[in-house]
Formats: sequence, structure tokens, C-alpha cells
Amino acid sequence: MVNILVIQPGFPNEVPYFVRGLARQGAAVYGIGDQPPQAIPEPARAALRDYLQVPNLWKREAVIPALRQWRPDLKIHRIECFWEAAMELAADLREAFKIPGLSPKKTRGFRDKHVMRQLLNQAGVRNPRQAKAESYAQIEQALAHTGYPAIVKPVAGAGSADTYRLNSPEDFEKVKPALKKIQSVVVEEFVTGTEYTFDTISVNGRILFANVERYVPTMLLARSQEHISPMTISLRDLSAPHFQEARKMCETALDTLGLERGFAHMEWFHTDKGEVVFGEIAARPPGGDAGMLMNYTCDFDVYNAYAEAMVHGRINQNIERKYNVAVIFKRAKGNGRISRIEGLVPFRQKWGAHILKEDLLPVGAKRRNWRQTLLSDGYIMLRHPDLATTLEIAGDVADHITLYA
Ligand SMILES: Nc1ncnc2c1ncn2[C@@H]1O[C@H](COP(=O)(O)OP(=O)(O)O)[C@@H](O)[C@H]1O
Ligand SMILES: [Mg+2]
Repeated sequence: MVNILVIQPGFPNEVPYFVRGLARQGAAVYGIGDQPPQAIPEPARAALRDYLQVPNLWKREAVIPALRQWRPDLKIHRIECFWEAAMELAADLREAFKIPGLSPKKTRGFRDKHVMRQLLNQAGVRNPRQAKAESYAQIEQALAHTGYPAIVKPVAGAGSADTYRLNSPEDFEKVKPALKKIQSVVVEEFVTGTEYTFDTISVNGRILFANVERYVPTMLLARSQEHISPMTISLRDLSAPHFQEARKMCETALDTLGLERGFAHMEWFHTDKGEVVFGEIAARPPGGDAGMLMNYTCDFDVYNAYAEAMVHGRINQNIERKYNVAVIFKRAKGNGRISRIEGLVPFRQKWGAHILKEDLLPVGAKRRNWRQTLLSDGYIMLRHPDLATTLEIAGDVADHITLYA
């Protein structure tokens, strides 16, 4: 039996389902985290053989000895981590306990956007021009290398936080105060085009399952303009040449960075000129409800498929891509509490058969901070086998459903 230690098995939202999947596939699953056991959502709690709660996950000097003393007879075979913030911790624990998987050195290729680009450039992957900078002077030098428009982002960013598009030297002056708090940034040539993900489950360096999502609009626009209703669309048909090119590029990225097994979440662009350009990579499943999107795309259980791959080295289910699945996030007009929602009734009348989920904040609820969470004031999820129709229905959600606060 394989003994798997999962870091923070109750977080983020879909992790408990992956944990349950691992147990269902016959692994003995253990957890370590800083959540009290009763705070761990049920699908994970019931699946865990045992759980070690530590007061502070970020204190290696305490976490490592605590884990050593916890169950001296337990031989851990694998450490899994689905949470971006704990990737380095997972790698340090693997190193301390001599467990295979991503090492601290390899982890840098996934966490440091400059190291990632350097390694991938060497492998011939098409990256945007890029330079690292740690002062205003260095940013200016880097801008001379990339040209305008450019993008400036933290070396180890996430969720488009502190990420800025610069169209001119004046824009640089404008964002200077905001950049002050960030120690290291990367400056990149700005890539214009459609943004996609390429999400994979692999074993022994072979991709067993891949899923592609399209972001409408790009994540940066979605995260910086409140009036937009951002959409993520999990795509049914991946036969177009640019998807095949992206697959090859992503395979090269996985090989180069050395992710032999587990989930990877990559982002890439299809430019207006038809070029395929690498965005970034993370060694975990995509966030949000991406697992749910995959499940509704293929009518299968990705949590289980992932676990089967990890425990048995294969995925036995026959996976057929049946639907495009769209999730559209809404942001209310106004501040404070939701006062009314318009457009829902006619929308349901027209498209009811294709709606999977409505999870908008109810009247009376306080608005969420859209800058902190893509979830915003809620979402509508739908699916349709035809992409143009999917986009039409999603467009209706964006344009004709309005929350007021
Ligand atoms: N070189 C680039 N050209 C155009 N857009 C970019 C570029 N780099 C990042 N972006 C935009 O910024 C978003 C966030 O950047 P990303 O590198 O994915 O960092 P993270 O998601 O870790 O914050 C991307 O999803 C994309 O929309
Ligand atoms: Mg990203």
C-alpha cells in the first residue's frame, strides 16, 4: 500500500475531493496542515488515516522534527501538495525525508517566473522576451530589452496580483509607487492574443489527461477591470492545429522542468499572428472550480482519474470530450449589499436546459471584493456541445444579467 502525505488536505476548495480520490484508489492518505482537524471539509476528513496539525506551516525548523516524531513507524512514499503557497514546503519535506518528487531545486522552475523562462528558453520554447529586475534602474534596462508594450509582474506572483501592463514610459512612472513593495519583478514583452490554459495529469513523464480552458478576456484584463464579467470556458474540441502545437510546447515544458507525475497547470497565448507562446506553469491543479469544469466537459470524475493515475499509474476510464463548459463571474454595480438581480428570469426561459449551476449572491448579501477573488459576486455555469452557442449563452450572462448593490 502506498502511503501519501498531503499538505493542507482541506484547502483550497477542491483539494478535499482529490484527497478522497486518493483514498478511494487504495492509498493510505495522511495529512499535515495548520487547520484544526474539524475545519477540514468532510470528503477529506473521512479519507485521512491521520492528521498532524502544526501551529505554523512555514517554520521548517519546527515542522520537520514534528513530522519525524509524529509516527516514527510510518514510511511516507509520496508527498502531494495542491496549494501554490506550500510548494516549497512540500519540496523541503521531500528532501528532508528522501521522498521522490519535485525537489527544492526543481520547484524553483515552477515558482520563479525568471528561472522558468530561462530553462524553457534553453529548451527552445517560445517565450516572451524577458528580464528580471530588482530596482527602478534595472526595470528601465529591462524595458529597453523588451520594448513597449511590456508587462511587469512579481517573480513569484499568483492571481495576477501586482501585475501591470506598461504601454509607455509614462505608464512606468505611474506604477512606480505600486512596485516599491515588490523586491523582484520580471519585465516581459507584452503578448497580445487569446489566453488559454493547458492542464495535465501525467505519470512517468507521459500525459494521461489534458484539458484546455480559454480565458475571456485575458486574466489580466479580467482581474483589473471591474465592469467585465470574466469567463472561463473548458473546451470540448482540441483538434485545431494551435492546440496540438500548444500540447507539444507544454510537453517540452514538463520534460524540461522535470515534472514527471501529477497535475500541471499551464497558461499560454495564441497570438493574433497565429503564434503559440508560453505563459507560465504551476505544479498543481488549476484553481477555482477547474475540476468541476473538467468533470462537466467529459462527464467523468477528474478527482478519481487523478488519483488512479497517482496510485496505479494509469487512467482506465474512457474519456470523451462532450461539452464546452463556461463559467461566467458577475460583479454587481454599486457598493454594499446586493439589492436586486435583473435578467435572470428571461435568461432561464431561453437557456434553462443548458444551465448547470447558478451561484449568484442573494439579495441582501454583502458584495465580495472582486480584486481579491475571481469568484466576485457569484457565477453561472453552463454547457453546450457547440462552442459558438456556448459563447452566445455566456455572452447573454455577461450582457443581460445584472446584479445591483
Ligand atoms: N508577457 C505577457 N504578455 C501578456 N500578458 C501577460 C504576460 N504575462 C502575464 N500576462 C497576463 O497577466 C496574467 C498574470 O500573469 P501570470 O504570469 O499568469 O502570473 P500569475 O497568474 O502567477 O499571477 C496572465 O494570466 C496574463 O493575462
Ligand atoms: Mg497565471
